Amino acid sequence: MPPGLEILHATEDVRRRVAGWRADGLSVGLVPTMGAIHDGHLALVREAAAGSDRVVASLFVNPKQFAPGEDFSAYPRDEVGDAALIASAGGDLLFAPPGETVYPEGFSTAVSVGALSEGLCGAFRPGHFEGVATVVAKLLNMVRPDAAWFGEKDFQQLQVIRRLARDLDLGVAVHGVPTVREADGLALSSRNAYLSAEEREAAPALHRALVALAERAVAPGADLARAIGEAERSILAAGFQRVDYVAVVDRETLRPADPPIGEEARALAAAWLGKARLIDNVAVPPRGP
Ligand code: PAJ
Repeated sequence: MPPGLEILHATEDVRRRVAGWRADGLSVGLVPTMGAIHDGHLALVREAAAGSDRVVASLFVNPKQFAPGEDFSAYPRDEVGDAALIASAGGDLLFAPPGETVYPEGFSTAVSVGALSEGLCGAFRPGHFEGVATVVAKLLNMVRPDAAWFGEKDFQQLQVIRRLARDLDLGVAVHGVPTVREADGLALSSRNAYLSAEEREAAPALHRALVALAERAVAPGADLARAIGEAERSILAAGFQRVDYVAVVDRETLRPADPPIGEEARALAAAWLGKARLIDNVAVPPRGP
């Protein structure tokens, strides 16, 4: 076990540890992950360490958020390697529950976060956000932290979880952390491991297309539909096989924003490159007067 990091598998053990910390007046932050830890996850652990006295990371590859035929069984798993990385970023405890702890025999509850889950990725991955909301609600109840940290990389997920915490009065502050990228703009993702060398070269085109779209969306006299069409074409021209969507939406409601005036909007995309479905998003600044 890496020095300074405790690994626990049972809910009662985690609850006891967290309750002890809280009884000592220490605040507790949670960073939920599915493992395959990279610098994006570690940015969340560092932010959680800066914002709370103790940091719990969870590691659970959640079957309920993968549809049949998605990459649940191929998803990379390395608890020991992940634990060392989480320790190096300031984590105090790794909670790695077995599947039957999270979903015991007879488990039959689902948490569904209405409209926010329906568009964008939700339209292409039916049931995905219900699986995410269900497991996040469970993890928050199992660990009982004061706050939890999530990445803007999964922007729709972040907004779904904010809504979930508010709607169910979970009493947990939800914090978002900016996307960590490679030098060429590609957002760090466990799924980047599926890319061949050639695909890895093509991958930053997704981010480039979103940056260009965000600029065009706020240019005087912008034609948003046309700018979205150009973004889709540039992603395909770079070598992606299929674009699931490119959209500019209100960052709170995730409904289409046209024209994106006033509040900051968000440009998001999902596209297939070989075996990997890559997603990304960038802020669209408010349009000037
Ligand atoms: P996972 O994909 O492992 O991601 C865990 C957390 O790391 C999420 O909040 C995600 O947004 C964040 N993250 C991933 N890549 C990032 C990057 N490049 N920059 C910043 N943050 C990044 O997202 C999940 O797991 C699951 O859906 C989970 C919330 C754990 C529920 O099962």
